[in-house]
Amino acid sequence: MEILWGDETLFRNEEVFDPDFLPPDILHRDVQIADLAACLRPALKGVAPGHVLCVGPPSTGKTTVVRHVLEKLEEYGVTVAYLRCPVLRTTYNVFAKIFEEVSGKVPPQKGVPLFKLLDEIAEFLEQQVLVVALDDVNFLPNNVLNEILMALVKSAEFKVGVVAVATSKGFVARLDPYLGSIFHFHEIPFPLYTRREVEEILRWRVEYGFYLGVMTDDAFEMVVDLVARNGDIRYGLYLLRRAGIIAERRASRKIDVEDVIAAREGEEATLLTKNLSALNSDEREALKIIYSLDEENITTGDVYAIMRAEVGLYYERFYEIIGKLERLRFIDLVFGRKGRGKTRYVVRRYEPKIILEAIRNYG
Ligand SMILES: Nc1ncnc2c1ncn2[C@@H]1O[C@H](COP(=O)(O)OP(=O)(O)O)[C@@H](O)[C@H]1O
Ligand SMILES: [Mg+2]
Repeated sequence: MEILWGDETLFRNEEVFDPDFLPPDILHRDVQIADLAACLRPALKGVAPGHVLCVGPPSTGKTTVVRHVLEKLEEYGVTVAYLRCPVLRTTYNVFAKIFEEVSGKVPPQKGVPLFKLLDEIAEFLEQQVLVVALDDVNFLPNNVLNEILMALVKSAEFKVGVVAVATSKGFVARLDPYLGSIFHFHEIPFPLYTRREVEEILRWRVEYGFYLGVMTDDAFEMVVDLVARNGDIRYGLYLLRRAGIIAERRASRKIDVEDVIAAREGEEATLLTKNLSALNSDEREALKIIYSLDEENITTGDVYAIMRAEVGLYYERFYEIIGKLERLRFIDLVFGRKGRGKTRYVVRRYEPKIILEAIRNYG
């Protein structure tokens, strides 16, 4: 039986490659799931649970675990609200969303004062416990962050457990001192996945997402290698789906190494152009220096010395630049020892020739 006949496709369930897909089995996160469940368990008895912070690098399963545990709580009758902070952004939007989740109704028009909205939420809750997940909470502006937590944590009207999710604890420093002193939380760390863990997580997707035997072992191995460098499962899912689409387009029955290479090159080129366009000339110069150095162990001090000589930069500005290059994921900064002191090393995330060529093509 030809599997590639008529409606030729290699995908059995393309949705498993969707970044928002909730996998039925969450692998290697038993500890975090159990910890979060234990923290929130009091909610089942109508007691306000303690607050929790899930913290770890991107793509380490934080969102997946939180949504999973919240779903379970909901099955047991606990009122929950899951909020993606980066899209909500304002205090009003956050509480409108909570209102919607709690009441199942369309939130009132903008212009309703916040305290009225809070009253209405409290009325619907009737003293029941509410578990609120603030996903990617670090994306909220300072005032919004403080207003929301203040309203949730301090209010006598609510019995609330807050589950904050963030890539670092940095946002805690942005809390007003008073709030900082009353907002206590239990911290659940989400470490990067190891190579073996990456492999198992992605293998499940390959088995459910593609028809049997479609992806060659070599191609799969290559995806795992690429992902294992930084543990970014989301990137792995992207590569798998793209490779599938590329293989289909050339009417192949197999997804081969060449398809993975094409998927990666396509992704790198798009992302690079986008990120390069976000840099000004000093920042591009710093990037060029970092990617032109021959040494393996580059310290921020090395790069600063060259930048100062060539462009004449203040130290503060230099650190801003380095930070921006890290945020755009051109580099990683890792602390290490050098001689007797501590120093920061700059780790390149790309092959030098890819970046240097992209900079040349750029301008
Ligand atoms: N332990 C896991 N088992 C199965 N899939 C996972 C696991 N961890 C992450 N993923 C998948 O990787 C992607 C990123 O996970 P996500 O929970 O969004 O990470 P984070 O919120 O930490 O950035 C999602 O598509 C998710 O389905
Ligand atoms: Mg997330």
